[in-house]
Amino acid sequence: MTQEILRAEGLRKSFPGVQALDGVDLTLRPGEVHVLLGENGAGKSTLIKMLSGAHHPDEGRVLLDGQPVDIRDARTAQRLGIATIYQEFNLVPQLTVAENLALGRPPRRFGFVDTRAMRRQAAELLARVGVDVDPATPIAGLGIARMQMVEIAKALALNARILIMDEPTAVLTTGEVDRLFAIVRQLRDAGVAVVFITHHLEEIAEIGDRVTVLRDGRSVAEVAADTPQNELIRLMVGRPIDQQFPRRPAEVGEALLTVRGLSRRGAFDDVSFEVRAGEVVGVAGLVGAGRTEVARAVFGADRYDSGQVSVRGETLARADVHAAMRAGLGLVPEDRKGQGLVLGDDVAANLGLVTLRRATRAGFVDLRAQRRAAAKVAEQLAIRMTGLDQEVRTLSGGNQQKVVIGKWLVAEAGVLILDEPTRGIDVGAKVEIYQLINALTDSGRAVLMISSDLPEILGMSDRILVMARGRLVGELPAAQATQDAVMELAVTDVEASRVQ
Ligand SMILES: Nc1ncnc2c1ncn2[C@@H]1O[C@H](COP(=O)(O)OP(=O)(O)OP(=O)(O)O)[C@@H](O)[C@H]1O
Ligand SMILES: [Mg+2]
Repeated sequence: MTQEILRAEGLRKSFPGVQALDGVDLTLRPGEVHVLLGENGAGKSTLIKMLSGAHHPDEGRVLLDGQPVDIRDARTAQRLGIATIYQEFNLVPQLTVAENLALGRPPRRFGFVDTRAMRRQAAELLARVGVDVDPATPIAGLGIARMQMVEIAKALALNARILIMDEPTAVLTTGEVDRLFAIVRQLRDAGVAVVFITHHLEEIAEIGDRVTVLRDGRSVAEVAADTPQNELIRLMVGRPIDQQFPRRPAEVGEALLTVRGLSRRGAFDDVSFEVRAGEVVGVAGLVGAGRTEVARAVFGADRYDSGQVSVRGETLARADVHAAMRAGLGLVPEDRKGQGLVLGDDVAANLGLVTLRRATRAGFVDLRAQRRAAAKVAEQLAIRMTGLDQEVRTLSGGNQQKVVIGKWLVAEAGVLILDEPTRGIDVGAKVEIYQLINALTDSGRAVLMISSDLPEILGMSDRILVMARGRLVGELPAAQATQDAVMELAVTDVEASRVQ
C-alpha cells in the first residue's frame, strides 16, 4: 500500500443556508503535489480550512499518519506540521514585510525584539522565493503579486510537512509562477505533501501529480494530473466546454476613450492609445510594467503629471473618479478586496454601488429597479449565493470577483476597464464573462482589458497593447499576435532602446 500522510473521510460542513461540504474524501501522500479542482463555490477553500484549523467539520474525520486528529485551531495545525497560504491574504498591512514574516515568533535579544535579526531572517526568506523587496517596507505599499510572494515566504518559514496553497498563482505572472513552481518541486522532492488549488488548467499537468475534483461540495473523482483538460473540465463542470475563448468581433465605431501623452514620474511615461466603440483592446505586460497604474490614472483614481484623458471627445478632469463615472467610464480593479467591494454588505448592495452613487446625485434612488437589475446580473454571471441578501464576505473567492464585474454591468458603463477580470474564476464562469464582453461590444461599448493570462489576451482581444517599464512598447493586431511575440515585446529593455 502506498504511504499516506493525511486522509480525510466524509467531511461535511454547512453554513447558514448552504451545505458547503457534503461528503469529501481526500488522501495525501508525502512527496506529491495534490491539486484540488472545482468550480467557484465547490468547497475547495472550505475543505482546506478544515485542515488548517480555521473551520471545524460538522461530520467526518481527519487522520494524520493513520491516527485521528482534532485540528482545533491554527496553532494545532501548525504543531502538526500543516502550513496554509490562504486565498485571501493573511498579512497585516500596517506592519513591515519583516514583521509579517516573523509574526508570532520574532527573534529576541535581551527580551526585546531583535529588529536586525528579524530583517536578516526576512531577507533570507525573501531571497528563497526570489522576490526583491526591502524587508522594512510596509505590506500596504506592495503590489498584490509581491504580497503573494511574501505569503509564500511566510509559509516556507514554518518548514511544514503539509503545505496548502489556495490559488497561489492567481495573482502572479509567468516569471513568478516559474519561480514558485521551482520551489514547489524542491519541497515535493524533499517529501512535503503539497495541496495546490488553481483555476489555470494548464498548470495542473505541469506541477501536479494527482487531482481531487470537487463538485457541489462532494469529492467526485481522483485522477492523475496528466488527465486531458477537457476530461478535467467535464469532471468539474459536469459538461464539456467547446470554446474557451468565444470572442465575436463587433462593428468598430468612433473612439470612445482617448488617452494622450499620459505620464507620471516613476510610474508611466508618455502613454497614448485609444479604444473604439465595439473594440476589446488587451493590455499585456509583466508585473510592474505600469498597466494597473495607467488604468487607475485613466479612471481618475490616481493623479498624473501630464497628458490627457477624454471620453467621447470630452476631456476629463484629473484624479476625479466621479467625473470619470459620469462620463461612462468603469474600472474593475485587480484588488477586489481592497477596492472593489464592501465585504460587510450584501450582494444586492454591492451590485448597486455604482448606480446608487450616481442616483443619489440625481436626487432619487429607485431601489426596486436596482434590485431587479442586480438579480438579472447575478443570474447572468451565475453568482453562487443563498440570495441577494448574502453578505459578500461569505461568498467564495471567485463569486466575489463576479460581484465586482457585475456592479459595472448593472451600471452600464460605456467604456469598461477590466484589470485581471477572470483572476480566480473557474473555466465555466470565464466563458460566461467572455460572453458578457461580447454582449458589451455588440451594443457599441468598449473594453480595455489588462490581463496576465496570455491565452486570454490572445483569445479575447481585437488589438493588443504591450507595456514594459511604464511605456507602451508595441501594438499587435490579434490576428498576428502569438505568445512569443507578446512576450518578446513585454521584456523590451526600455532603457537600452532609449540610449540608442
Ligand atoms: N463563512 C461562510 N458563511 C457562509 N457561507 C460560506 C462561508 N464560507 C463559505 N461559504 C459558502 O460555502 C460554499 C463553498 O465556498 P468555498 O469558499 O469553499 O468555495 P471554493 O471552491 O473555494 O470557490 P472559489 O473557487 O470561488 O474560491 C460557497 O457557497 C460559499 O458561499
Ligand atoms: Mg476558494
